[in-house]
Amino acid sequence: MKFNRRTHNCGELREKHIGQKVVLNGWVSTRRDLGGVIFIDLRDRYGITQTVFEPSYNSEAHEHAKKLRSEYVISVEGKVRKRPEGTENQQIPTGYVDVMIDKLIILNQAETPPFQIEDKVDVSEDVRLKYRYIDLRRPKMQSNILLRHKMYQLTRKYFDQNNFVEIETPVLMKSTPEGARDFIVPSRLHKGKFYALPQSPQQYKQLLMVSGFDRYFQIVKCFRDEDLRADRQPEFTQIDVEMSFVDVEDVFEIVEGLMQLFFKEIMNYELKLPIPRLTFDEAMEKYGSDKPDLRFNLEMVTLNETFKKTEFRVFKDALENDGIITGLLAKGCGNYTRNQLDVLTDYVKKLGAGGLIWMRVKENILEAPVAKFFTEQEKADIIKKMNAGSGDLIFILTGTKLRTLSIMGSLRLEMARRLNLIDTNSSPSLLWVTDFPLFEWDDETKRYYAMHHPFTSPRLEDIDMMDENPANVKARAYDLVLNGNEIAGGSIRIHNADLQAKMFKVLGISNEEAKEKFGFLMNAFKYGAPPHGGIAFGFDRLVMLFAGESSIRDVIAFPKTSSGMSLMDESPSTVDEEQLTELHIRIKN
Ligand code: AMO
Repeated sequence: MKFNRRTHNCGELREKHIGQKVVLNGWVSTRRDLGGVIFIDLRDRYGITQTVFEPSYNSEAHEHAKKLRSEYVISVEGKVRKRPEGTENQQIPTGYVDVMIDKLIILNQAETPPFQIEDKVDVSEDVRLKYRYIDLRRPKMQSNILLRHKMYQLTRKYFDQNNFVEIETPVLMKSTPEGARDFIVPSRLHKGKFYALPQSPQQYKQLLMVSGFDRYFQIVKCFRDEDLRADRQPEFTQIDVEMSFVDVEDVFEIVEGLMQLFFKEIMNYELKLPIPRLTFDEAMEKYGSDKPDLRFNLEMVTLNETFKKTEFRVFKDALENDGIITGLLAKGCGNYTRNQLDVLTDYVKKLGAGGLIWMRVKENILEAPVAKFFTEQEKADIIKKMNAGSGDLIFILTGTKLRTLSIMGSLRLEMARRLNLIDTNSSPSLLWVTDFPLFEWDDETKRYYAMHHPFTSPRLEDIDMMDENPANVKARAYDLVLNGNEIAGGSIRIHNADLQAKMFKVLGISNEEAKEKFGFLMNAFKYGAPPHGGIAFGFDRLVMLFAGESSIRDVIAFPKTSSGMSLMDESPSTVDEEQLTELHIRIKN
């Protein structure tokens, strides 16, 4: 179909264009037929322009316009005019003008879309995902995807200016141990063998340091077969970074510069540097999380000292077993009903707590079922340490350390929601969490796992403890947290063969297994590995937070559902028997 090339886009016309002949192309956003006159709001990526079909201006065009329906694709020609007094629309930049149409070409018809193309749509996410190409026409989705584009460009420019080299790494590779399950790809040419999709390019970026590239970055897809949540997708994007001859401070400096640039360019906000830091131990003790949300000021308090001579069995047991007694103050909640307290007790029990101890503060006296087990001195001490006053409520949890702290951390967030403590308009809360434990004990398999990955360096002062006391060894690992979300994580790596061997020993990985799994990296390290370290951002999470969204699906063009499906192309799907045979695969029933 022949149509004239557009002279302007749908977000461009202003009063200075009045009187000009223009050609616009786009989608029919809304159509109002006022009997005599038809108004069509024409939409494209750049905005909306009102077009007017009047029989007295051009009867043929007006007649033709009666056929238009939502989402038809059209080309129009006409003259820009000032909108009649009182009909201006101040909400949109083109709202002072409209276009009187004398030629209409219908480029394509459209079926009635399954939902309206507007920001507040009243349909399930499943329907939006099934018709994602339509969903992506919505203004908010368009602005999210454009923001994502802007953040790619800022990232590339920033790393280029700082002397980083962008290098692509393979998507078909050998399985990397990053903690999640691999997606695997069967090989046709090598019967019974599989590639893995990278959980991250971790080993490749370390190899690039051995190759002497010094500073590497990549905006890269990573694949992890894990349980999905609002902030997790099976394929997601990282800004992956690695640097040679560096320590923690050097990595922080580069990351802080990038964050400052994002805040300046996207929100026009001057981020103050340096970004504050908390150790993992401090973060857990005060906030019960390794990604604390510090937009509100509610701290947990450790009460072990208060109860060191307690006769209360639950506390005594915890203290004897190296556990913790942690308290949380709920200001002004002393009037919570029994029912409200039961709901909160259920909440922590679901998370694995044995129960929730609560105490009402009344005129400096503690009122609670458990109060009879406490001495006067202990009660006074609780009130003082918790900084509690009349009308407040105190929660106490006790048990093994990390687990109990993390349950209290969840209760802290729950109370913040109930008490409306999170001011979503407050300035951003950015935070480094440092000194993570190097190892994590798994009760089921009765062995240690690397908390980050097996190439993470211990703190140098802790190396001697690795054999005797691995649980207390801290790593040179760090996470960056924004408003309670982990947006990046990384570490300084081990670059020395002896230390790596020690690490494998604690992890219970034999020489053969190490050779089989990480042989190529270990071999490379024999040929001159520089000290190196790096970090990776969860790019989708970053865009989500800057876009003000609460799910990363809203900043990914074609995401999967929380059960890992693509509703649009219906994958995963079955394949032909022939394809399977070629891959030497038989499906077991
Ligand atoms: P890590 O596993 O911490 O580190 O990942 C880095 C960041 O990626 C984001 N992220 C995810 N985002 C969406 N969906 C997921 N399933 C998902 N998993 C992780 C998080 C996280 O902070 N190779 C190391 C980095 C390094 O040591 O340099 C790594 O991948 O925001």
